[in-house]
Parts: sequence; structure tokens; C-alpha cells
Amino acid sequence: MRRFPLVRKLIQKFHPEAIPGIAAALYDIAGKTRYFRRYYEIMAGDISEFCKAEGSVLDIGTGPGRLLIELHKRRSGLRLTGIDLSAAMVSLANRNISKAGLVHAIRVCEANAAHMPFPDDSFDLVTSTGSIHHWKDPVLGLNEVFRVLKPGGHALMYDIVSDTPAQVKRQVIHEFGRLTASLLWIHAFAEPFYTCESFEALARSSAFEQGRIRFAGMMACLALTKKGQGILSNG
Ligand SMILES: C[S@@+](CC[C@H](N)C(=O)[O-])C[C@H]1O[C@@H](n2cnc3c(N)ncnc32)[C@H](O)[C@@H]1O
Repeated sequence: MRRFPLVRKLIQKFHPEAIPGIAAALYDIAGKTRYFRRYYEIMAGDISEFCKAEGSVLDIGTGPGRLLIELHKRRSGLRLTGIDLSAAMVSLANRNISKAGLVHAIRVCEANAAHMPFPDDSFDLVTSTGSIHHWKDPVLGLNEVFRVLKPGGHALMYDIVSDTPAQVKRQVIHEFGRLTASLLWIHAFAEPFYTCESFEALARSSAFEQGRIRFAGMMACLALTKKGQGILSNG
């Protein structure tokens, strides 16, 4: 995609930000498959490394809410909040949370990453998986993440990148099989994913001023810290 800047610009212009009704329902069905279940396990395992037993976590672009449910299994003392721009996704998430008997532990509401309905310094940890490449103004979104994070809190922004290193691809093929891995890379042409460099550049343009990329499963994780003293921080 880096070789086709105009195509990339066009896709970005027409790429929907909120996932609409029928696509949300299909995404929710896909979320039940072995592949997605493993994906949520990997993400929840990685995120919970940054959480102590208690605290507040916000998941932006939570989709059908399955990551929050998986996080609750690992850290039942966390106060979990999800937002999504898509009303259809929010209603699917609330249905899944209710089916899992977790309405007391997880709340999900409709909101935009660019204007979040939370006071400053609200959350110990903010995360987002596979959503930031949809955001129309990702720097504004990251500035909002900075605002709602408590000082010392971490943000873990996960997304697929278009230049995934070869050893990460090999690991994905090993774990998910060649067909799934191929579908994933084909997907990278349909969606305007960042490169590692442009993903880190977003952090530099935001209030965080810097961010570091590492990989968790197939996802690049842009790790950000709001300087100060936090209760969930492990590093
Ligand atoms: C590919 S889905 C990922 C869902 C989930 N995080 C996962 O990993 O399965 C991206 C989600 O981000 C949401 N989204 C896109 N732009 C958003 C924004 N500006 N604010 C909040 N949510 C947004 C979409 O509606 C969609 O549900």
C-alpha cells in the first residue's frame, strides 16, 4: 500500500469509520470462530500484563465486546468500559455481555474516540484493538486517550500494520495456518493500515509525544504512557 499513496488516500476517504448494521452482525458471528477466540485470548493476555487486580480500563472501538469479556475472565476486579461509534456494535456488545452475565462488570456505550464522554484522568489503562485505522482523525483520538488517562497510565493501541516483519508472519502462519494468514494480508489491501513508521509517527504528533511498537500475535501494539504516577503501571 505504501507504493500507492493515491489509492490509499481514496480508500481512507471512503472507508467507513463506524461498522454499519449488517457488517457488525457478520463481525459478531466471525467473533465466535476459533480464530477470533484465539485472537481475543492473545490480546487479553497481553493487556492483562499491564493490569493489577483492580483499576479501570477503557476499550475504544470495542466492537462486539468480546475482548472485555475475555479481560474479565483474567482480571475480574477491573472496572471495564467499552465505547464504539457504531450503534449496531454497541447493541451486539451489550447483548453478548448480558448473555455472559457480566452487566455488573462491563459497560459499553456509543461514543466517538475523537470526543469521549469521560472526565479528564478517568482510566488507569486505555486500549483499542483493530480500530484506530478506522478513525478519521487519529491524532485527535490519541489526544483524547491522553486526556482520559490517569497520569502514569498506559495506552495500548493494537492494529495490523502493512509491513509486518517476516518473523511475526511466520509465527502467525504457525499458529493460525497459511490460509488464515493469507486472508489477513489480503485484508491489508482492502483497509488502509499504517506502517510501523506511520503508526509511531501518530504518537509523535499527539500529546503523548512518543510511542513504541512491539508485536503481540499478529498485531502491532503502539505502547504509550502519560507521564506521572499510576496504579496499574508495571513499567
Ligand atoms: C475492526 S472493528 C474491531 C472491533 C474489536 N475491537 C475487535 O478487536 O474485534 C473496529 C471497530 O472500531 C469502531 N470505530 C471506528 N471508528 C471509531 C471511532 N472514531 N470511535 C469509536 N469506535 C470506532 C467500529 O465501529 C468497529 O466496531
